[in-house]
Amino acid sequence: MFHRIIGEDIALQSIPADSALPIRADTGMIEQVLLNLVVNARDAMPKGGRLQIATNLEIVDSEAAAQITDAKPGPHVVLTVTDSGIGIPAEDLPHIFEPFFTTKEAGKGTGLGLATVYGIVKQHHAWLAVQSAPGEGTKFKIYFPAVNGQASSVPTSTLTQPLPRGSETLLVVEDERAVRQLVSNTLEHCGYKVFTAANGRDALEVWQKNKDHIQLLLTDVIMPDGMSGTELGGRLAIENPKLKIIYTSGHGQKALENTDRQHHTESFIQKPYSLQQIATLIRSRLDEPKAELLQQQDASLP
Ligand SMILES: Nc1ncnc2c1ncn2[C@@H]1O[C@H](COP(=O)(O)OP(=O)(O)O)[C@@H](O)[C@H]1O
Ligand SMILES: [Mg+2]
Repeated sequence: MFHRIIGEDIALQSIPADSALPIRADTGMIEQVLLNLVVNARDAMPKGGRLQIATNLEIVDSEAAAQITDAKPGPHVVLTVTDSGIGIPAEDLPHIFEPFFTTKEAGKGTGLGLATVYGIVKQHHAWLAVQSAPGEGTKFKIYFPAVNGQASSVPTSTLTQPLPRGSETLLVVEDERAVRQLVSNTLEHCGYKVFTAANGRDALEVWQKNKDHIQLLLTDVIMPDGMSGTELGGRLAIENPKLKIIYTSGHGQKALENTDRQHHTESFIQKPYSLQQIATLIRSRLDEPKAELLQQQDASLP
């Protein structure tokens, strides 16, 4: 899944552990962590290089744990992302997890990638270690407490799982730029033609110019600038009743309550979602039989 993000000049080596390593984790969030680390590694290797993603089991002893804030002794599943890029200067290292800390030019970096990683790592009772020096590349290690029994494992296998493809035209409406870019870039790589908008008003403008082509709307429910995703969806559905609509929100499906919706054309996906989840949902929505056709068939039953 990361090949299309890193491009051709970076060699990706994925080294999964010999056996599945169980951790208690949200797969979508772990994917987000990996994505942020991979995108940073790519940015650190503009002329190409090597990227290695590995998982292994490490027993942390109490002596080692005592040295590290947040660390606890015991078995841990360690996710390691190593690049051969430009490295991080010593004076920057204490700041890289701060929100909005970025050394990238305006418009390129948000400074939110590692802050997000840090937040997710905390949620999982895990901790992080970074090793880096200018010119010598960077290594991020994340220590997840290993658990017994049934649990999701670090999804190294999903890294190479291809996303479903298509050539339809989509409109993605999302106010958070990083998310909008990530989703639209990914869908473009999957073959789709993707229009984007940061709010309802912009989306209406894009729609007016391209409504004959757009087959699916993916929109955040809660957006700035007054118009909600459901209001937008409702308006577009009047103009094109066949438009497939996917709503998304970090606030759960409750965000859709008390709204007037056409149920047969709509679905909902909770944030955070993984790229695999969103790409799969979009493909299945585009492939589903036409709603009117189903209704006709229903009507002809005895
Ligand atoms: N793998 C890496 N190699 C070199 N520098 C990195 C790496 N990962 C992160 N950094 C540094 O940390 C900063 C913050 O990263 P991040 O929070 O993801 O924000 P952004 O990528 O938007 O700048 C980056 O701007 C960069 O200076
Ligand atoms: Mg980043």
